[in-house]
Amino acid sequence: MSSLEDLFSKRLIVVMGKGGVGRTSIAAALATSLSRMGRRTLLYQASAKEKLSQLLGGPRVGEQLEEVRENLWAVNTNPGAALHEYGLMILRYETIYRMVFENRVTKSLLRAIPGLDDYSIIGKMWWHATQEEEDGSLRWDTVVFDAPATGHALTMFKIPSAILEAVPDGPLTRDAVRVRRLLEDPDQTSVVLVTLAEEMPTNEAIELHDRLHTDLHMHPACLVVNQLYPDRFTAHTGPARVLSALLSGGEEVARDSVLSQVLPAARTIYLRRELNERYLARAREKIKLPEVHVPLLLVPSLGNEEVDAIARIIEEQTVPMARRMA
Ligand SMILES: Nc1ncnc2c1ncn2[C@@H]1O[C@H](COP(=O)(O)OP(=O)(O)OP(=O)(O)O)[C@@H](O)[C@H]1O
Ligand SMILES: [Mg+2]
Repeated sequence: MSSLEDLFSKRLIVVMGKGGVGRTSIAAALATSLSRMGRRTLLYQASAKEKLSQLLGGPRVGEQLEEVRENLWAVNTNPGAALHEYGLMILRYETIYRMVFENRVTKSLLRAIPGLDDYSIIGKMWWHATQEEEDGSLRWDTVVFDAPATGHALTMFKIPSAILEAVPDGPLTRDAVRVRRLLEDPDQTSVVLVTLAEEMPTNEAIELHDRLHTDLHMHPACLVVNQLYPDRFTAHTGPARVLSALLSGGEEVARDSVLSQVLPAARTIYLRRELNERYLARAREKIKLPEVHVPLLLVPSLGNEEVDAIARIIEEQTVPMARRMA
């Protein structure tokens, strides 16, 4: 099995990248693929702007788990809700939870613990990823975490280690050991890096890739390069030759009413793709990972059909035909 195909058998997939590069869209597409392959999948978000109803064409997704498609569930938690669930899990009863957690002193104490908000988010993620049914089988085959943007994600995933360094052995460290073990285990957890082939996102992806190894000891499976411009004008074949002939066509082309309107758009696409190629090469030089290329879809905003299309594009580049058809 190739390392990429292997991605689809992980228990936890963490989608990371710079803000705005398409983490949520790619996470939704990956979760769609997984569910279509018959894996019970949970798409996990925290404090995210509600977009999944549009992306997946299902119900709005909030603090409660929602079934959005066959085999696909989603939740958009937040630190308050995650901590509430955790508190209830340990204390078992809502009234006792209120007495302890809603107590003024406890509340201000909790607020003073650095990183607690983020820890509650990865704690809940870990809980879902390891949650068992009564018969001992796992509740979810895969949890896909639409992680926060780079800087925030790096601090968030560092917290289990920070707890282990700072807190004496006890219940808190016992859980932190378990969370870290799951995150660092390449058989169970993979990171999917998302980027655009542009300057800032590529630089950030390169740094994130380094930090995953050095700081977090987590394992990236692939680099998804999103929103690539079409390359129909860059190949040294027919269309490219036609375009360069037209671009250097001078007066005659400028006078042609149709060509003079189409050419600027073609030229923009050509130049954007050229820029994409430059940053693809830079990413390739620094990040030794299989690449998955996702085109820029020319629609005002992504919906259900586009997410399905992206899911298929990802599958075509990762999963062999035989398994896709199974
Ligand atoms: N392949 C694509 N083609 C066209 N538009 C895309 C593509 N991927 C993402 N987009 C658009 O880019 C924008 C950002 O995408 P998305 O919300 O998935 O990014 P994000 O990394 O999750 O952002 P944030 O940091 O705000 O959470 C959205 O408007 C989305 O519709
Ligand atoms: Mg997002």
